[in-house]
Amino acid sequence: VRVAINGYGVIGRRLADAVAAQTDMELAGVVKVRADYKARLAVEKGYPLYAADEKSRTALKALGVSPRGVADDLISDVDIVVDACPDEVGAANKATYQRLGRRAIFQGGEEHDVAGFSFVAQCNYEAARGRQFVRVVSCNTTALCRVLHSLDGQFGLRRAGVVIARRAADPDETGKGPIDAISLDPVTIPSHHAHDVNTVLPQLKIVTMAIKVPTTHMHLHSLLLSLATPTSEAAVLEALEHTPRLLLITGREGFKSTASVIDYAREKKRSRNDVYEAVVWRDSVRADDSEAYLFLGVHQEAIVVPENVDAIRALCSQVAAAESMRLTNQTLGIAR
Ligand SMILES: NC(=O)c1ccc[n+]([C@@H]2O[C@H](COP(=O)([O-])OP(=O)(O)OC[C@H]3O[C@@H](n4cnc5c(N)ncnc54)[C@H](OP(=O)(O)O)[C@@H]3O)[C@@H](O)[C@H]2O)c1
Repeated sequence: VRVAINGYGVIGRRLADAVAAQTDMELAGVVKVRADYKARLAVEKGYPLYAADEKSRTALKALGVSPRGVADDLISDVDIVVDACPDEVGAANKATYQRLGRRAIFQGGEEHDVAGFSFVAQCNYEAARGRQFVRVVSCNTTALCRVLHSLDGQFGLRRAGVVIARRAADPDETGKGPIDAISLDPVTIPSHHAHDVNTVLPQLKIVTMAIKVPTTHMHLHSLLLSLATPTSEAAVLEALEHTPRLLLITGREGFKSTASVIDYAREKKRSRNDVYEAVVWRDSVRADDSEAYLFLGVHQEAIVVPENVDAIRALCSQVAAAESMRLTNQTLGIAR
């Protein structure tokens, strides 16, 4: 499957590496706007570089990294485009994908309606088959869908309450804050995340509230769940142990903060410290009759990477969900 990555930032650069690592995919090219070190590094990696438009082409040439063409040249020559442009730019790009008759995957910064289908591999891979467009949901929504879909299947979820502490900015977004505050983001309840989870799991009753904290690595969710079937901590842990793309860690072993999780990924020699799994603190899990509680960590830069690779297969191949997830996991070093 020939794949174009349109947008080569936080997500696009990770997706390019992940696609290049798949034996059933070919990275046909990446699209850049600005002439900067990231464009130079793409060329050094051997990735075919394309300019977003003629203005970018001129700027990239001036940098000494001649692009092979502009975005349209690349898009005309692939099976699928993964759009990793900033929020709402993807929606504007949709007309190009339609004009050139190409399949496309959008990211969570776009509205559900841009694609008409919101994707999380373990929830709805098979239903994505044959579609021209899908949207891989945001980092927070991906993590919530993995955990809630699994627990709903096991115990029946009556209601989920989630408090989301969001990282204020990605590591190189030096112009964003807060630096010395906790922002209510938004002040009103629910935050948009509840609605977004419902684009994948429409029946789920969920309320989310979100705050922004001065950190750049990872979000932390506090889950308060009401279950239809009374259960025990052991049973909840058992269900989580069988949930794909979920990493169980313990505070007793020294995982006291999100910083330890990133440190773990560094020690595991994960590319860019990436944690593709939703992370649950084993010793945070509490179950009391029909109530359950837990802490869930989300590495915002990484968690959607495996979902995008699976979405490419769902749209462009006959590979079944379990096999696609196995192949993706194997190449990214995800245990299950
Ligand atoms: N960052 C996260 O934590 C995160 C997590 C999950 C989902 N997402 C979603 O993923 C998407 C991308 O986010 P991101 O954080 O990767 O953004 P980003 O780091 O700002 O990268 C965006 C990329 O798109 C390029 N770009 C801008 N306008 C373009 C255009 N008109 N045509 C082609 N490329 C263009 C930029 O090019 P230049 O580099 O040349 O300027 C940049 O490489 C968004 O929908 C976002 O909501 C982000």
